[in-house]
Amino acid sequence: MTVALAFDIYGTLIDPHGVVSELQRHVGDRAAEFSRIWREKQLEYTWRRGLMGKYRDFGVCTRQALEYADLLLQTGLDEDAYTALMQAYRVLPAYQDVPASLAKLKQAGHRLYPFSNGTPEMVDAVLKHAAIDEYFEGVISVDSLRTFKPSPEVYGQVIKIAAVEPESCWLVSSNAFDVIGAVAAGIKAAWLKRFDGVIFDPWEFEPTCVIQSLDELPQLVE
Ligand code: 2OP
Repeated sequence: MTVALAFDIYGTLIDPHGVVSELQRHVGDRAAEFSRIWREKQLEYTWRRGLMGKYRDFGVCTRQALEYADLLLQTGLDEDAYTALMQAYRVLPAYQDVPASLAKLKQAGHRLYPFSNGTPEMVDAVLKHAAIDEYFEGVISVDSLRTFKPSPEVYGQVIKIAAVEPESCWLVSSNAFDVIGAVAAGIKAAWLKRFDGVIFDPWEFEPTCVIQSLDELPQLVE
């Protein structure tokens, strides 16, 4: 049976903390802390903008979150540093298990979609740089709906674009809020527990399954 798999990008296929090496050049040993605050604030801005109905795209949320981290940590970044760090975001690395798992799924005849808060342009750039764009159909981005995950609308769009029954449609994401959004909207969702110690939100929605690595996916969706 052909299955449609929608892959979350940042945190699932692509490592948002891949900016740490560029950050080290600008903020030294505060790079890891800076990266964590940057990422947390970036997501918070998407949620707040979604609730407020004040959409600005993910690039803007990312840039404003970068500015927040700089202000909070009083790191005094200059304009060149901002440019370099935003550029680093476009060339983030893929996690090590990604290429082989995508290749296997594609070979098995499944349809794979990048599904992200990122704009199509941002997502295309990062997938191309990581050399994994060849495995995918076109990007499914929240940008056309002018809202963000986990609005139910964005998961509805996945089902519509993939043109499969909801039971043949999977989200794969390491972001628990994303998994909860998909399950609540009627899509199957695999929670990728990339790191020990991360926990799933104790809500009334549970992932369809939990995986530790993308290598487990081909068998799971057979
Ligand atoms: C993404 O949509 C949530 O960052 C995550 O790619």
